[in-house]
Amino acid sequence: MQMQCLLQETSRRLRELDGDLARRKAEEIVLHVLGCSRSELLLHPRKTLSRLDTEAVAGIVERRLAGMPPAYALGAVYFYNREFAVSPDVLIPRPETEVLVDLVLQDETSEDALFLDMGTGSGCIAGTLLAARSRWRAVAIDRSRAALGVAARNLGARAMLLRADCADALRPSRAFDFITANLPYVSCGEMASLDASVRNFEPHAALDGGKDGLDLYRRFLPCCAGLLRPGGRLYCEIGETQEQGIRELFAALAPDFDLGCLVVHRDLCGRPRVVRAATHHT
Ligand SMILES: C[S@@+](CC[C@H](N)C(=O)[O-])C[C@H]1O[C@@H](n2cnc3c(N)ncnc32)[C@H](O)[C@@H]1O
Repeated sequence: MQMQCLLQETSRRLRELDGDLARRKAEEIVLHVLGCSRSELLLHPRKTLSRLDTEAVAGIVERRLAGMPPAYALGAVYFYNREFAVSPDVLIPRPETEVLVDLVLQDETSEDALFLDMGTGSGCIAGTLLAARSRWRAVAIDRSRAALGVAARNLGARAMLLRADCADALRPSRAFDFITANLPYVSCGEMASLDASVRNFEPHAALDGGKDGLDLYRRFLPCCAGLLRPGGRLYCEIGETQEQGIRELFAALAPDFDLGCLVVHRDLCGRPRVVRAATHHT
């Protein structure tokens, strides 16, 4: 089939779902499958596409029409300007998580660093940090074997992948310069009111944080001081209603963390998004 025919056919099929954006969405799909630029697409409207490519485009459209989120339908998503492979085994990386990445890149100034990424999922946090700092190395941990399969596609040789539970993943070693964690933090009440595309397609094990959403952090935070070097920092993503709850969890860990250094960072709308804590220097 010719490129222009495929684009027309794809936009027509997406019209009901994407309305005026159908043509743009069709282009995104075709560009993704062909791995070419938009200008190539516009310059060669009569190019004949292989059956394999035409079928791949049709498959993505089928999945979109079945209600699958675009990132899963394509098998890829952009996070911090980089493309990451995703599948329904991992949470789709969210723009909110870019706040955490920004903060780490601003605060961690060593050229060499070893960090732990807990609940790595697609590996979007570790992968972005490793791409930005050529001498950093990471240990990326997740409890889900399937998620680690996706992370392996996104992370190179400077990341070591480990399947483990956050509360007993590693022996205390004080080896890590910093820790990033985006563990599930959606409360039971919020789980019920999630958007249908999230509830029906995204892995519940990547979302469900128990009664108040803080179950996983309640188990993980007490392990962190034993993993961090003296003065090492921990960056955790939280939900917008959890500032008070997470402060209380850290207050109970006062002998390990320097509470004077605890900072809650907000997104552009002023919602709490990331907590940064540091261990004592000695
Ligand atoms: C909110 S997702 C975050 C994924 C990715 N880091 C991101 O920012 O998009 C949470 C991840 O934690 C993992 N997870 C859930 N419970 C865990 C546990 N007890 N120990 C380790 N990882 C866990 C899930 O499999 C999921 O990949």
